[in-house]
Amino acid sequence: MKGRRLRRNIDQLRSQRWFASNDIRGFAHRQRMQQQGLAREEFMGRPIVGILNTWSDLSPCHAHLRERAQAIKRGVLQAGGYPLELPAMSLGEVMVKPTTMLYRNFLAMEAEELIRSLPLDGVVLLGGCDKTTPGLVMGALSMDVPALFCPAGPMLNDRYQGQSVGAGTHTKKYWEKYTVGEIDQAEWIALEARMTRAPGTCNTMGTASTMTAIVEAMGLALPGASSIPAMDASHTRMAWACGQRIVEMVWDDLKPSRFITRASFLNGVATWMALGGSTNAAVHLPAMAGRTGIPLGLDDFDAMARRVPVLANLFPAGDRLMEDFYYAGGLPALLQRIAGVLDLDAQTCTGRTLGENIAGAVPLDDAVIRPLDQPVVSAPADCPEAGLALAVLRGNLAPDGAVIKPSAASPRLLRHTGPALVFDSNADMLAAINDPALDVTEDSVLVLRNGGPVGGPGMPEWGNLPVPKKLLQRGVRDILRLSDSRMSGTHYGTCVLHISPESAVGGPLALVRTGDLIRIDIRERRLELLVPDEELAARRRDWTPPPQPYVRGFTRIYQREVTQAHLGCDFDVLAGNAATPEPPIY
Ligand code: FES
Ligand code: MG
Repeated sequence: MKGRRLRRNIDQLRSQRWFASNDIRGFAHRQRMQQQGLAREEFMGRPIVGILNTWSDLSPCHAHLRERAQAIKRGVLQAGGYPLELPAMSLGEVMVKPTTMLYRNFLAMEAEELIRSLPLDGVVLLGGCDKTTPGLVMGALSMDVPALFCPAGPMLNDRYQGQSVGAGTHTKKYWEKYTVGEIDQAEWIALEARMTRAPGTCNTMGTASTMTAIVEAMGLALPGASSIPAMDASHTRMAWACGQRIVEMVWDDLKPSRFITRASFLNGVATWMALGGSTNAAVHLPAMAGRTGIPLGLDDFDAMARRVPVLANLFPAGDRLMEDFYYAGGLPALLQRIAGVLDLDAQTCTGRTLGENIAGAVPLDDAVIRPLDQPVVSAPADCPEAGLALAVLRGNLAPDGAVIKPSAASPRLLRHTGPALVFDSNADMLAAINDPALDVTEDSVLVLRNGGPVGGPGMPEWGNLPVPKKLLQRGVRDILRLSDSRMSGTHYGTCVLHISPESAVGGPLALVRTGDLIRIDIRERRLELLVPDEELAARRRDWTPPPQPYVRGFTRIYQREVTQAHLGCDFDVLAGNAATPEPPIY
């Protein structure tokens, strides 16, 4: 632990600036609490805990979070604190358009400013659906008060015709079957009621389960919390335990800066790789680290992916779901398997080390949490890289990097040269992709641009371009795809993502023309446009930025402030760990 263990007295708590002073402002603060029917004794002289709740009626993954907030409140009250529930922007991944990513920084700002502007001594962050985890954590890291993340938990497994079916992954699989007539419309409609059978986050290893596990491994959630199914009674007990623990963290002033280090982040990165987690973490982790001043970037991810095999047998890389992972021992058991690459001395929210937190955890099912010598993806001998959870590519098409998830890709396409088929927008692509006259073969390289942080805007999950119908009909299920967009963690396919810099700000992706040859070589970590430099220079002279229709509002701010994908797409003005003064109270 950095610094000695503190045990603060009530006068040292932040909320006392609001409630303790014997002046007209203190009077008004106490008066307004009592306006709600509270007695002075209920909140005076106690740690005040904010519960930042991302529940909403349009966030189905968070449908249970109002009830969980009640359990957290019980825990806080019984530990001698006073809990206050505060709504924070709810980013239901599927409903929010154009993409929740556009609003991750909005939530991060809201979390930070809620904490700053209100009389809170510590916070429990209640989220889990994809962007809510990094958004809440980024805000809490910047504000740096004692903070504990309470993950929403994965939804229950589902089965369809005897097969495990998982959110996202199987939507895509059945859509492809429906597209080529392998299932009829009645079945397609019946499937709407499947794969997402209960509140909770996606039950595949998508961005939600990737990020909640990373945050737990970093020490910001209680041990095992992220693996508990949302609808399990243990989940309610975990929420109660968060309420108990945060009060102790407030007394001990156990804020993130006292235990989050580069080692914590690298533990999170190792966890991501062992899970075969979502490529979205490659954007969220640099953004989170950027709030602390700790260096972390694409090269750290590529290096860790080479060290840590994919051991969690979960869709889309494997064939099980999060409920199976929980029964197999959950994250603590997986962390035991990769203990050799973790920094077990890293401190955590429990006041103990990561090693102490996972002591005694045992993998209970080797089919779900694989032994180190039996990774989930068995790569062919001529392409061992095919088993990796992530690879970072660079070259004249991606000077600042791009990412690919080899374990969800086709080995035959990981060393490939083919002609580009370029789309300038997602709408153009959707209009053309199923045209029988589309000039495309299984060797083509689909290229989508103007889908990056500025161009999207918000870097939508367009990077998993559909395989053209004429190829699907011939039995082709994968094709090389390139974009400056992201891809859902629940999806699969040979998709090069996050190409940086993006096309809308003049990255080389803007210069590609249909018919140009593109070369990928996963061993060399190369991504190249095989066009002479002089020709590219001439094209650059002719290039003009795409017109942007956003002349006002949040999107305008976003486009002005957002950083490129390899830096995490945070806002320039939000990055860094410079201190912001506490608000004056007068
Ligand atoms: Fe909410 Fe997947 S849509 S976690
Ligand atoms: Mg997702």
